[in-house]
Amino acid sequence: MFSQSVVELIKKRSSWRTYDGKPLVDEDREQLQQYFAANSDGPFGTNMRFKLIDRMDEDGSEEEKLGTYGFIKGARTFVAGVNKEAEKDMENYGYVFEKMVLFATELGLGTCWLGGTFTRSSFGKKAGIKEGETIPVVTPVGYGEAKRSIRDHVVRLAAGSKNRKPWEKLFFDGNFDTPLTEKEAGTFATPLEMVRLGPSASNKQPWIIVRDKNHGMFHFYVNRTRGYAKMLSFDIQKMDVGIAMCHFELTANELNLSGQWIDNNPGMPLPQSQMEYVISWAAKE
Ligand SMILES: Cc1cc2nc3c(=O)[nH]c(=O)nc-3n(C[C@H](O)[C@H](O)[C@H](O)COP(=O)(O)O)c2cc1C
Repeated sequence: MFSQSVVELIKKRSSWRTYDGKPLVDEDREQLQQYFAANSDGPFGTNMRFKLIDRMDEDGSEEEKLGTYGFIKGARTFVAGVNKEAEKDMENYGYVFEKMVLFATELGLGTCWLGGTFTRSSFGKKAGIKEGETIPVVTPVGYGEAKRSIRDHVVRLAAGSKNRKPWEKLFFDGNFDTPLTEKEAGTFATPLEMVRLGPSASNKQPWIIVRDKNHGMFHFYVNRTRGYAKMLSFDIQKMDVGIAMCHFELTANELNLSGQWIDNNPGMPLPQSQMEYVISWAAKE
């Protein structure tokens, strides 16, 4: 589906908040629309759809209404992910939206996941959402200015966007006490490293993965940040786990490591109360 290597796309992507003020050219618009038509389903079903949203004003006056003003500069086109509530919808959404972000990256477009800093009602109106639908996240899609704005630098610095947690805080072997080293992970070192490099809300990286070597499985957990995201109406850190699933699976596929998602909670006692089991990836023999 991608013509470039997913590993390269994951490394290339970073949140972009400064754009050149030009709308998307027809060719990019068409490529995105075609992508939406074929790629709106995820590992847990088809409960979301994409919508391209344009800011019609040339002068920037609408930026304020869309609520992206101050954080995102000069973006004329956005992609909204419209969600319908369902079981595991947030994990599914995170997966599907991130895959789209990687596709946009392949087209050479800048993106920035926005879960907080936009006005939901204005986007909802423009996207024509129906009863029971919401827009948890939008992203600008456009052509980046060569240099990030000062505001962009400040936001990145505040979120520590360049930093990622080390392996020993994220990946474990058989239990929650034994870190999984890159060497021990063998052929799975790259899929795990791609999880590590993924974007997450406020760069909290709330994911923990435990390998079960004997059964060829990787158990995915959300490691919630206490007191975080309480004000949001959706479970944003489960969405982050969907992003981790996306990076893991696409990278495994690229490396010809086949497997599938299964609900197979090993029932290990959780070291922290804010942790929760999400899903497992089981290798196929
Ligand atoms: C679910 C989610 C929501 C996010 N919401 C916002 C947001 O509201 N505003 C913003 O400026 N960045 C937002 N981000 C971007 C993160 O801050 C960013 O991904 C993280 O700091 C890592 O930086 P990078 O994307 O440049 O690698 C969000 C990211 C995710 C995954």
